Amino acid sequence: MKFSITSVLTFASTAVLLALSVVPASALPTTPAAVQALQKRATKIEGLNNYSCKPKSGQRPVILVHATLLTLNSWSDFAPVLIKKGYCVFALTYGVNKAVGDFGGLNSIESSAQELATFANNVLAKTNSKQVDIVGHSQGGILARYWIKYLDGKGKVYRHVGVSPINHGTTLSSIVTVAKAFGIFYPSQSLFDKFAPSFYQMVNTSDFIKKLNAGGDFAPNVIHSNIATKFDEVVTPYETCWQQQPNITNVLLQDFCLLSLNEHLTMVNSKVVLQFVLNQLDPSTAKTANCLSMFS
Ligand SMILES: *[C@@H]1O[C@H](CO)[C@@H](O)[C@H](O)[C@H]1NC(C)=O
Ligand SMILES: *[C@@H]1O[C@H](CO)[C@@H](O)[C@H](O)[C@H]1NC(C)=O
Ligand SMILES: *[C@@H]1O[C@H](CO)[C@@H](O)[C@H](O)[C@H]1NC(C)=O
Repeated sequence: MKFSITSVLTFASTAVLLALSVVPASALPTTPAAVQALQKRATKIEGLNNYSCKPKSGQRPVILVHATLLTLNSWSDFAPVLIKKGYCVFALTYGVNKAVGDFGGLNSIESSAQELATFANNVLAKTNSKQVDIVGHSQGGILARYWIKYLDGKGKVYRHVGVSPINHGTTLSSIVTVAKAFGIFYPSQSLFDKFAPSFYQMVNTSDFIKKLNAGGDFAPNVIHSNIATKFDEVVTPYETCWQQQPNITNVLLQDFCLLSLNEHLTMVNSKVVLQFVLNQLDPSTAKTANCLSMFS
C-alpha cells in the first residue's frame, strides 16, 4: 500500500470512505476492527482546555486546529509539550458529521470556520485575553484565515502557524489518489458533497479556495508562518501550503532535516515540526530543531 507509513490515514480514510461508499463493506480492504483501533488511539490530553489557565505575560492562549478526518486527539504529541512549557492550550474537534462517524473536518469549511470562531471567542472571554495564537494542520491551517476575513475574527489572532496548511488548495487528482490507493471507488463529487463537502472545497479551483484567497492569501497584521514537507501526498504540490508574501516565513521540513520522511499526517508527530512551532510561538527561546532520524 502506497501510504503504509501512515496507518492513521489508512484507518481514518477507510472509515469515512466506507461510510460514504455505495460498495458493500466486504469489498473494502478493512474491517470494523481497524476503525475501532483508530478510535482507541484517542486518549485524554491532560491539561488541555483548562479554562482556569491564565496566560503568562507575553503569551496568549494557543488554539490547535486539526486536519480533515482527524480530531483534537491528533495533538497528543504537541499539546503536552506546549502545556508543560506553560502555555494555556486549547483544541476543538470541528466539522463532525454524525452520519459518517466521529471524524472531524468533513462539513463545509465555512461552517467549520464558524465552529472555530465560537470556540475561540469562548477561549478569549474565559481567559480574559484579547488575542490568541493558532496552530493549524492542513484544513485546520485555513479556518482562522476565514474567521478573520469573513466572520468576526479581525484583530483576534496574533500568530498563525500552518502545519502543511491547505492555503492554496490541492489537486483533484490528490483526492482521487487517496481514494484509489485504498482500492475504493472513484470519489464522485455528489456523494462527497452530501456527506463530506469539505473534500471538494479543498480542490485548488474551488469557489471556497478562491474566496479564501481573494484580496490576498494572508491576514493583515497576523504573523504567519508555515512548514511543509516534500513528501506530502495530500496537499500537492507542497508549495501550495505556502503564503506568497515577503514577510511570511515559509519553510520546508527537509531544510532542517534532510532525511525526514514525514508526510502529510505525520507532521503532527514530528519533533522537528514541534520545535518549529515552539520557535514561532516564542522566538526569544528559539532553538535549532534536533534532527535525529528519518521520522524526526
Ligand atoms: C488548570 O489550571 C489551573 C490554574 O493554572 C491549575 O491550578 C490546574 O491544576 C489546572 N488543571 C489541570 C487539570 O491541569
Ligand atoms: C490546480 O492544480 C492543477 C494541477 O496541478 C494545475 O494545473 C492548475 O493550474 C491549478 N489551478 C489553480 C487555480 O491553481
Ligand atoms: C505583511 O505584509 C502585508 C503587505 O504585503 C501587510 O498587509 C501585513 O500586515 C504584513 N504583516 C505583518 C505581520 O506585518
